[in-house]
Amino acid sequence: MLITLPDLLKPELVCQCRQALEAADWTAGSLTAGHVAAHVKANRQLALDDPIGLQIGQRITQALNQHPVFQSAALPARILPPRFNRYEGGEHYGDHIDNAIFRVPVIERAGAASIGYRVAPPDMLRTDISTTVFFSHPDEYEGGELIIQDTYGEQRIKLPAGQAVVYPGTSLHQVTPVTRGVRYGAFFWTQSLVRDDTRRSILLQQDIAIQRLIQAGGDPTIVSQLTGVYHNLLRQWAETC
Ligand code: NI
Repeated sequence: MLITLPDLLKPELVCQCRQALEAADWTAGSLTAGHVAAHVKANRQLALDDPIGLQIGQRITQALNQHPVFQSAALPARILPPRFNRYEGGEHYGDHIDNAIFRVPVIERAGAASIGYRVAPPDMLRTDISTTVFFSHPDEYEGGELIIQDTYGEQRIKLPAGQAVVYPGTSLHQVTPVTRGVRYGAFFWTQSLVRDDTRRSILLQQDIAIQRLIQAGGDPTIVSQLTGVYHNLLRQWAETC
């Protein structure tokens, strides 16, 4: 399941974040890649403890916590604090699948305490869902498309600043070379209550159908029955620890 969040961040916030990102201290992205990924990764990132990154990351997480579509589609158990990258001058990130497990760094666990993450063990996060938030407008750069292989083939994603794409962590993906301008983005992973993408998709469709029935003034008894089915499916499939 691949979805976009067209209204994740408000324009004023995007503008503030963008100014901060332009002034930030960027390091080679290959430093944070694993052995295999380092061969295909050519971009720049903010250090995990960079105060600008931590601050913008909190704003993104707040927006996600209040976003009904993200909540319904991702069913988040834990969100790894967002990270930031920058591509220019031909930089790119070749085809790869993200690591399955991330150890939550101490600095992130400390920062997370104040914004409501579960900080007790386990300090491992399973990357069920990947998200990219765009901080450059598509007109500002050439290339830099996020290409995701999904069930229905290749998806080429290049969204306006402030919008996000959410896709399964199991997907093969790449960022094509940025041949003009600069592409700023945030990326992060979510461990879902429901690790299987097909099951999350079924739950989302059920949730959407119930909401539509309510809006259409449907029979409350049927709404209640369908809501019960939703929760019984979730009870079957959810992993809460
Ligand atoms: Ni990746």
